Amino acid sequence: MIGRYKLGKIEIKNLIYKYKQFDNEKNALENINLTIDKGEFIAVVGLNGSGKSTLARQLNGLLLPTKGVCIVDGMDTRNEATIWQVRQKVGMVFQNPDNQIIAAIVEDDVAFGPENLGIVPQEIKKRVTESLRAVGMEKKRKFAPHLLSGGQKQLIAIAGVLAMRTDYLVLDEPTAMLDPSGREAVLKAVREIHEKYGITIILITHFMNEAIMADRIIVMHMGKIAVDGSPRQVFSDAVKVKRLGLEMPLAAQIAHRLRLKGMDIANDIYSTDELIENLKVN
Ligand SMILES: Nc1ncnc2c1ncn2[C@@H]1O[C@H](COP(=O)(O)OP(=O)(O)OP(=O)(O)O)[C@@H](O)[C@H]1O
Ligand SMILES: [Mg+2]
Repeated sequence: MIGRYKLGKIEIKNLIYKYKQFDNEKNALENINLTIDKGEFIAVVGLNGSGKSTLARQLNGLLLPTKGVCIVDGMDTRNEATIWQVRQKVGMVFQNPDNQIIAAIVEDDVAFGPENLGIVPQEIKKRVTESLRAVGMEKKRKFAPHLLSGGQKQLIAIAGVLAMRTDYLVLDEPTAMLDPSGREAVLKAVREIHEKYGITIILITHFMNEAIMADRIIVMHMGKIAVDGSPRQVFSDAVKVKRLGLEMPLAAQIAHRLRLKGMDIANDIYSTDELIENLKVN
């Protein structure tokens, strides 16, 4: 424990955030209270402008609370003395694959973070190899990033975060600009690094099929947390889901239509796997 806050979690208390450019406008985040425990896999969903990216940027101090606090493993993001450590703990991957790669060779790009931390070259080499392996990109080590696909660039960006050995990985719509195969590859890598390395995942997405991969879904609505629960809890209330501007996961939509056609399908079908299992039983 450091002060009142426990180590090993992100705690947001009574957080309000207002973009200063718009003095008369509403707050982008309105009294957020949220605890993210180490090892969780959380999806954040919600309409455009609901505050998802603003929330993500609070987690590593890219934005600082207007009121309230964000505490990362005991460190207040407003404290300049520890912001560097906060940034090492919470890695970010953004939507646009082309904005995140800086070096001319893949391995140099992945090495960039640890180099900035002053880590010795031998250790950097080890980390680069490990990180590229973790996302299945070892073979592209010597490639020029601009020759890679969007999905592969996102994998390199994730490897760059892994090489910093961050505990938390925040991904802000990492698949939004990718084709289906790139999307699949990125999601697979995210799932694997969560399972293998226990890295805490905070995945912002517009795709409900991605959100149901998480253990917990946070639904943002007009700067507030509207719902916070397991995928099952969140999607059990289809009317509320619609009211929050979201779609049901594809499998749930199909299950609903099959039910209307008179098929005997269970009520709580959310993932494709569940639907397939249910159809087998039928
Ligand atoms: N740089 C900015 N300056 C001023 N207002 C901003 C800025 N970025 C976001 N906002 C406003 O803050 C609110 C929350 O925006 P935010 O980008 O966090 O939403 P979001 O849920 O990530 O949306 P999207 O799904 O479109 O990415 C919106 O009203 C938005 O217009
Ligand atoms: Mg956003």
